[in-house]
Amino acid sequence: MRKKIVAGNWKMNKNFLEGIDLAKELVEKHQPSESNKQLVVCPPFIHTAALSELFSATSIELGAQNCHTSDKGAYTGEISAGMLKSLNAKYCLVGHSERRANFFEDNQELFQKCKQLLANDIRPIFCCGEMLEDRREGAYFDVIEDQLEVLWKLSKTDFQKVVIAYEPIWAIGTGETATAAQAQEVHAFIRSQVAKKMDVTIAENTSILYGGSCKASNAIELFSKPDVDGGLIGGAALQADEILAIYNAL
Ligand code: 13P
Repeated sequence: MRKKIVAGNWKMNKNFLEGIDLAKELVEKHQPSESNKQLVVCPPFIHTAALSELFSATSIELGAQNCHTSDKGAYTGEISAGMLKSLNAKYCLVGHSERRANFFEDNQELFQKCKQLLANDIRPIFCCGEMLEDRREGAYFDVIEDQLEVLWKLSKTDFQKVVIAYEPIWAIGTGETATAAQAQEVHAFIRSQVAKKMDVTIAENTSILYGGSCKASNAIELFSKPDVDGGLIGGAALQADEILAIYNAL
């Protein structure tokens, strides 16, 4: 049975003490339900070591927002997958639309990041999603198909550790959520692509998360769709009660 996941992406928010306060509140209030339902927190790098410690005796898993394509070396300012592993990170975002747009991350780079993470037993949360123009032109399946190409280069064994997040760019931080039907349509498409390129069993076991203005008030409807296995949450992850309510909607 595939895992249901709610992952909070704090993006570049929360100074050190604010981040610790939020993490402590999560630890205090989080009531894990079935073992198949996972809460993941992806803080900025400055919080990683402290949160690793805070989450160590809990069921909350630590994630990260990015890693470098190489394992070490003269890459000033960068963080490797091995460094994240040393802090017990279990998940890491790859190819978030903000990084694709602002740091020009291309498919080759995203593939290398996935390989680094997988070599370090960290599950990539691979993000894909179309721009508003793509949706208006009816080209969104083509865009997503192109973005997913990165994943088909992975072996089946590696691919089975990947989580996919569908984040339509027009829904990120805009308050305009995809409808549950729009999310379902794309998630079913993504799963069908996995079935075609990997196999049906792998497709059935792949967790596909929705991201883009997901909040407690719309999570139940989104998560009720058969191919929506949870959410990747931005703004609403910055408040403990809100992200925990989203988790409880799984
Ligand atoms: P929002 O939930 O703020 O729209 O952000 C979604 C997102 O980009 C998560 O990675």
